[in-house]
Amino acid sequence: MNFIKNMFTKQYATYDYENIDLTRIPKHVAIIMDGNGRWAKKRGLPRTAGHKAGVEVLRDVIRTSSQLGIKYLSLYAFSTENWKRPQDEVNALMQLLVIYLRKEVQELHENNVKIHIIGDIDRLPENARMEIRSAFELTQNNDGLIVNIALNYGGRSEIIQAIKEISRQVKNNELEIESIDEQMFSRFLYTAGMPDPDLLIRPSGELRISNFLLWQIAYSEFWFSDIFWPDFSGKHLIEAIIDYQKRDRRYGGVK
Ligand code: FPP
Repeated sequence: MNFIKNMFTKQYATYDYENIDLTRIPKHVAIIMDGNGRWAKKRGLPRTAGHKAGVEVLRDVIRTSSQLGIKYLSLYAFSTENWKRPQDEVNALMQLLVIYLRKEVQELHENNVKIHIIGDIDRLPENARMEIRSAFELTQNNDGLIVNIALNYGGRSEIIQAIKEISRQVKNNELEIESIDEQMFSRFLYTAGMPDPDLLIRPSGELRISNFLLWQIAYSEFWFSDIFWPDFSGKHLIEAIIDYQKRDRRYGGVK
């Protein structure tokens, strides 16, 4: 494992890579980080303590993703539906985002990680938008792992937004209706230019998609686990990838 030795030397991972095929690592992994609230409840703690513990997990998951050579990691941090939560919880999540970026961005940058946001950030508080902007600017020329943080993200609203933009271009004679196809449509999404997720991970025992990357997951492999997100680690990511490598991906064809 020499190739990982220069990465994240401050916390060198000790996971067992023995059963993983390093030549068949998924290019794009998406994660629905779920179960923070239940993790906290189980411990008699406020829900926000669960989110705080959930943020702590990111360091290990991002580091492991980088070491494995995953190219894109998409993290569902805040959905368009999450505004319905109590105001205190929404505020705490926004504050955690700000603290996380302030604290971690330098190390992410030193490790060649590029931060990219998917979602409509216009509705986020000004201090969150500022941190996002500076994290984006600092890391935009990095060519290592790309971390897509989904903020005020909804799959349906992303598709509607793409349809509106395509319609506008058609109306202005900038685009021919006949030229609209799947590849072209993908270029109007937040994930433009990125491959679709090969693997979608959802911990916490829920077996649903919750409006995450609806268009992009058409042929993704799913991996579910009962553990809550704050208990998730690079070890589980490796477990998910080992399972993924046993799947037979046929994309609707036969082999
Ligand atoms: C779902 O758990 C989790 C969320 C809605 C937020 C996920 C956010 C983080 C891990 C932290 C913020 C992210 C960054 C990038 C700093 P839940 O509250 O729905 O849990 P429950 O289903 O057990 O109630």
